[in-house]
This record gives sequence, C-alpha cells and structure tokens, in this order.
Amino acid sequence: MAGLERCAGARDPTAAEECAAIGEGARIPELEGPQPLNAHDYERLGRIALNPALAGYVMGGADDEWTLRDNIAALKRWSLCPRVLADVEHVQTAVTLLGAEISMPLLIAPLAFLGMASPSGETATARAASAQGTLMCLSTFATVSAAQMAEGARQSAFWFQLYLLRDRGLTDSLVEQAVAAGASALLITVDAPRIGNRERDLRSGFSIPKETSIPVLEDFSGRRDLSAVDMFKLVDPGPTWARVEEICALTELPVLIKGVLAPQDAKAACEHGAAGVIVSNHGGRQLDGACASVDALPEIVEAVDTSVPVLVDGGVRRGSDVVKALALGAEAVLIGRPAFWALASRGEAGVAHLLALLRNELELALALLGCTRPREVGLEHLRRAPVGS
Ligand SMILES: Cc1cc2nc3c(=O)[nH]c(=O)nc-3n(C[C@H](O)[C@H](O)[C@H](O)COP(=O)(O)O)c2cc1C
Repeated sequence: MAGLERCAGARDPTAAEECAAIGEGARIPELEGPQPLNAHDYERLGRIALNPALAGYVMGGADDEWTLRDNIAALKRWSLCPRVLADVEHVQTAVTLLGAEISMPLLIAPLAFLGMASPSGETATARAASAQGTLMCLSTFATVSAAQMAEGARQSAFWFQLYLLRDRGLTDSLVEQAVAAGASALLITVDAPRIGNRERDLRSGFSIPKETSIPVLEDFSGRRDLSAVDMFKLVDPGPTWARVEEICALTELPVLIKGVLAPQDAKAACEHGAAGVIVSNHGGRQLDGACASVDALPEIVEAVDTSVPVLVDGGVRRGSDVVKALALGAEAVLIGRPAFWALASRGEAGVAHLLALLRNELELALALLGCTRPREVGLEHLRRAPVGS
C-alpha cells in the first residue's frame, strides 16, 4: 500500500482522496504505487504529483471553462451502436497516417513546458510514444530544442508544432531546425493569435521559473520567471493564409493546420497547401464558448471531402471516445492533458503505460463494435444519446 501512503501526503487534497480509490489491481512492474487503470486514474495521480499552480495550468481552460467541459460532454452525447456476429477474432488498431504506419490512430498533442512535469519531459514522452508505436508533437514552447529531443529520443518519430511568431526569421529557423532534427510533419497552430483568458493561472500566479530552459527564448536576455501570457507575446497575431503558404514553401514536410473549427477554414487550409487539418479548440484554453471539437468534426470532414486527413483533439479519454471520433470521420485523434498527467506521475513508463491502456481500450471497443480495424468504423455505428442522458 506504499502508493496510497504517497497519496496521503499529496498537495491537492481532493485529488488525494480520489487517488486513494485507485486500487493496486493488476500490477505493472515498472510502476510503483497505485496502479492506474485508465486516463482518469492518471489525472488523479498527476494532480497530486504537481504543485497546485502547475496542476491548475494543465487542468484549466479559458473563462468559465464551458468549452473545456463540453469537449468531454460532446463525446458522451454520442452513443455507440454495435454490430454482432462479425468475426472479431483478429482485431488490429494500426493505421497509416500521412504515409507512415502507427500502431493506433492516436498521437500525443503538442504540450508546452513538458520539462516542468518531469526533467526529461519531451524526450521521455517521445520515447514512450515511439515504444508504443505512435508519436508525439513537439511544441514550439518545449523545454528542449528539436535537435536535443531527437538526440535523446533516437529513432523516435515526431511532428513539430509551430506557432507563427512575430519574429519571422526565428519562425523560419524553427522550421529548419525541426526538419534537420527529423520531424516527419509540421503542424501550425492557428487558434492562439492571443492567449485565452485563463483565470486559474491568474489566481495561482502560475509562472515558468527562470531556470526552466525554453530554447525558443534563448535569444532573450535578462530572463525572469515568465507567465504563459508573457510567452504568447512572442506569437504574431497578424498572419493570414499567405504566411501558411510561405511556411509550406519552406519545407517538403506535410504541413497540418491545428485549431480549425469552421468548415470554411478547413477548406481554406486545403487551398493554401495544408496536408491535413486538426479540428481543435486548444483543449478549451482559448475561446470559451467555442464549440466542442467533435461537434465541429462532421462538417469539416464534409468540407475537405477526403482531400486531406482530418484529425481531432479535445476530451479524448477512452478507447470508446476514439471510435466515436473515427465514426465521425476523423483519421486519428490526439490526447493532451492525459499525457501530461502520466508524465508528471510516472515519467516515461507512465506515458507508455497510458498509451498501452488506450490502445487496449480501442482494440476492445472495435471488437465489441463488430469491427476488425479502425477504418471499418462509420456513422452507422453512432446514435445521438438521448437528451439529458
Ligand atoms: C498544458 C497544455 C499545454 C498545451 N500546449 C500547447 C502548445 O504548446 N501548442 C499547441 O498547439 N497546443 C497546446 N495545447 C493544446 C493541446 O495540443 C491539445 O489541443 C489539447 O490539450 C487537447 O485537449 P485535451 O487536453 O482535452 O486532450 C496545450 C494543452 C495543454 C493542456
């Protein structure tokens, strides 16, 4: 019961109580303490592993956090309609995405400052994702450069997330560095021309200690502790689709646009050279009241009409959430916060274990749905859940 004792000294008392509910269960040898069975357990463990301000930064959304909650609720507004006697003895979860095979249609979303969760944050996450046959997206606001991560996580495939910065030369050089380090795709995040109003951070005074390395800032002298608001002062609120075209022209890599909710923008992304669209509201951290990402998904899938893959993130916590997103036309999903929590509580082994749990859940959900591979899931497997359920 050593793990439960650890919980007793936790910093977040609510999380500590919830954490005590996690049993020792089937033990995973590399993991000490309570044995998480799912992404929710990892959230409980992550919340007690981090100091309250950092946990609040991870957990939080913008304003009243309607969109944050609605990302989760919107997935629950769909129910699944399984088919039976479909011979599901052999079920496989692997898919091909942008020409590369991954073990499941699930990636780790870009997450800033992963080094604050665990000292080797981004590198550990990339290694864990690779060990599970999938990949992570390295944030512009990472605590290591693309080159440092690639060196530490040898052979691990990764995508690089780009913010369009006011300093265009720096932005272009980030693209060059990502290409040189071996990134296999770029994703440009376009839903954050300014940072959303994150009141949890304002109340807690969350800041990034000056000792935390943030390579994109290395040219900045006289560094002090920084807020997330300070970091977003680097981001250019001015660019239009012309800048996306310029970035596409800099590299042969596929460029995906992350943070699209309107079908018109999805179409524009394709017209301006994007190789994919990521339907996302930044995990409810930008415009509160923005629609849940799965609610935006069907119209976007229709608008791009198979010309490029459509991915989605926001609120995915279970294999059954993944199949719902697939049924609505997504080629793959990304998870954000669950990876941060797993890294914070159990490091690299935790992230790998979380991914393994999600892959097992997905495999079971496919089998119980009567499908033998992700591509077989379609709208016929979905029903609108009764209102108020
Ligand atoms: C702590 C945290 C940091 C994030 N940092 C970035 C980032 O640097 N770049 C980016 O494009 N999105 C960032 N996001 C948004 C995620 O990529 C993703 O869209 C979102 O977390 C998905 O929702 P989920 O957390 O419910 O899975 C961040 C989200 C969180 C929670």
